[in-house]
Amino acid sequence: MKYTALFASFAAHAAAVSVSGAAEGFAKGVTGGGSATAVYPSSNDELVSYLGDSEARVIVLSKTFDFRGTEGTTTSTGCAPWGTASGCQVAINQNDWCTNYEPQAPSVSVTYDKAGILGITVTSDKTIIGEGSKGTIMGKGLRIVSGVSGASNIIIQNIAITDINPEYVWGGDAITINDSDMVWIDHVTTARIGRQHIVLGTEASKRVTISNSYINGYSTWSATCNTYHYWAIYLDGSNDLVTLKGNYIYHTSGRSPKIQGNTVLHAVNNYWYDNTGHAFEIGSGGYVLAEGNVFQNIDTIVEAPIDGALFTAPSAAENKVCSTYLGCVCQVNGFGSSGTFSQSDTGFLSNFEGKNIATASAYTSVVSTVNANAGQGKV
Ligand SMILES: *[C@@H]1O[C@H](CO)[C@@H](O)[C@H](O)[C@H]1NC(C)=O
Repeated sequence: MKYTALFASFAAHAAAVSVSGAAEGFAKGVTGGGSATAVYPSSNDELVSYLGDSEARVIVLSKTFDFRGTEGTTTSTGCAPWGTASGCQVAINQNDWCTNYEPQAPSVSVTYDKAGILGITVTSDKTIIGEGSKGTIMGKGLRIVSGVSGASNIIIQNIAITDINPEYVWGGDAITINDSDMVWIDHVTTARIGRQHIVLGTEASKRVTISNSYINGYSTWSATCNTYHYWAIYLDGSNDLVTLKGNYIYHTSGRSPKIQGNTVLHAVNNYWYDNTGHAFEIGSGGYVLAEGNVFQNIDTIVEAPIDGALFTAPSAAENKVCSTYLGCVCQVNGFGSSGTFSQSDTGFLSNFEGKNIATASAYTSVVSTVNANAGQGKV
């Protein structure tokens, strides 16, 4: 009996630290730290060390790692492009952003937490996974960025990243990917972030899947001064394939997402809810296929003009074209109290040929599925 109980407790522990499911879409096949023995960092320093070393690792977050205050604060002159009312974000003059802002914005003094500005470096072959609802990083983000040959094969699952200088534009990003390949972000919650919740930089980020995650745009301070965060998801890049599936994108007012550079985005079965500005912003080099999503209370689903290309899977008849390139017909999107979303560029669909493509369900099941699954603590 005793042996059985002991075994059961080991089994429970082992189950808690293994990756749940597998990446769908462009990053299918990502293995992260693979079968490496799990490590449980107990301090901020240990977490930073495991994330950035040269070993394949499974890193289990079983508590909150709070970086706020750990690097001190900086006071400098920033600006207030949207005014100084209590609900407005103000900006740090990073890279002369305020100096170059047009029209010139009034100067204000800003005092921000230094830890938030630059995220923790994550190197190749890592699995970062939270235990239950316990794995949280506060006050600092994660950066998957160029090393000598970029960073590849990384899984981030079931954690929350929160409270990165939310008052300040340029206060820090939650997840940065810039020069990488094969990254899977799954069941991650981001909330109260100064700048981008997720940003893919101008370098090639190649194959990325963002799934079942919860972008919580509610913030006391926002660029639109109305609690709706403007800087949600920014997909730039020179050779990027991004799958966005099953995510909950809530209470934002812009860049949800912004796509440009040379980025192909497959947005499938996501739930956008409550946005006072725009969801998509599609710049030059942004190629977007959006199917089987739900847009509820989204003022402007896509901002004009569209400088890239967009296929919104508008009708069963038009959606048959997907069979040639994706191997099955596309699913129409669902709308409630939202703006219009209808465009039929198909020339870029050939980019999907021969790739791993996430499957699409009918939009009718999206709200219940996303509510049940998206975010930390739902695996
Ligand atoms: C990505 O890398 C390029 C080149 O080093 C750099 O100019 C850019 O600022 C980086 N972007 C982000 C979001 O880190």
